[in-house]
Amino acid sequence: MTDTLDIKITKTKSSRLEQTDFNNLPFGHIFSDHMFVADFEDGEWKNFQIVPYGDILVGPGISALHYGQSFFEGLKAYKHNDGTVSIFRPDKNAARFNKSAKRLCMPTMPEEVFIQSIAALVDLDRDWIPQKPNHSLYIRPFMFATDKYLGVTPSKTYKYMVLTCPVGPYFSKTLRVKIETHYTRAAEGGMGYAKSSGNYGVSMFPARKATEEGFDQLIWTDAKEHKYIEEMGAANAMFVLDGKLITPLAQDTILDGVTRDTVIALAREWGFPVEERKVSVAEIIEGAKTGKLTDAFGAGTAATIASVGSISDDSAEYTLKIEPKDREFSQRALKAMNDIKYGNAPDTHGWNYLVSGD
Ligand code: PLP
Ligand code: COI
Repeated sequence: MTDTLDIKITKTKSSRLEQTDFNNLPFGHIFSDHMFVADFEDGEWKNFQIVPYGDILVGPGISALHYGQSFFEGLKAYKHNDGTVSIFRPDKNAARFNKSAKRLCMPTMPEEVFIQSIAALVDLDRDWIPQKPNHSLYIRPFMFATDKYLGVTPSKTYKYMVLTCPVGPYFSKTLRVKIETHYTRAAEGGMGYAKSSGNYGVSMFPARKATEEGFDQLIWTDAKEHKYIEEMGAANAMFVLDGKLITPLAQDTILDGVTRDTVIALAREWGFPVEERKVSVAEIIEGAKTGKLTDAFGAGTAATIASVGSISDDSAEYTLKIEPKDREFSQRALKAMNDIKYGNAPDTHGWNYLVSGD
């Protein structure tokens, strides 16, 4: 699998695997033994390496730090009962990686290089993949500018890296969400569709205010009128209203989620009506009041399917009438996705990229 990409591998002399408590895996705190690193210099990607996980040295003037030329991806590797290791839909992440890169005037990367860099790292650290229900190896590819000068122009050099973390569920409880009607995450013409670091930085202040008010997540609304739902902080927003799966259209203010796409594909196969369109705050609140809103969840790689328990607007909190465990659609979608990811159902869509063991 790594035949075509020439990767120099330096293995760690002191693995942390034995000391790691796989019964306690807070999201993103524990890193596996190795990381992937490559450099973009003289107009090409070079120096493909896997090295022991550790700190890196960068110049203090890099434009990633000053002007935010930086973005990331997120995907997961799973271990099946028979020991097979698979990565879920990495081609989708490769495509989104390049969309983000273009928006930020950063270099793109051929899909095969992106996938092989990840597969080689996962293969080397395969013992770090937890073999437990709802657990996986979270994979974090990212790229940042490394030119050491302060001009506001695109850098000519970049670093691409991949880290991995053994993880359990990102959200451990049913979410209490707040519809944000003051702050904005992304506007038309902006970079909402890119997985740019700045999109997450900008969300922290409003998200912290919401946490202080007792909420778990925000639902972002459109920048112009704050009347239409966009997405959640770390997941796409999906609803079952009046027997139909509805979700905001993935246009330029929203991250085009792989999980969202997967849920929609499954729903269509099941003959479940799907509407990708503008979703108004008013119809969701009305549905919560009347009980026509039978399901609401965030869909994301880290979040998987995160059930929403209640939705608050500026005046009140509306609790969904059906308990998460009794929600037919999201329970079915979660099970169907997990069955494929963990190799318990045939992968008829070709979504699992198998990591060979050589
Ligand atoms: N929206 C935002 C802002 C996210 O951070 C994520 C997580 O990656 C998603 C949506 C869901 O995307 P995906 O399913 O590709 O992980
Ligand atoms: C992911 O699901 O990959 C995400 O990017 C969420 C993350 C911001 C924790």
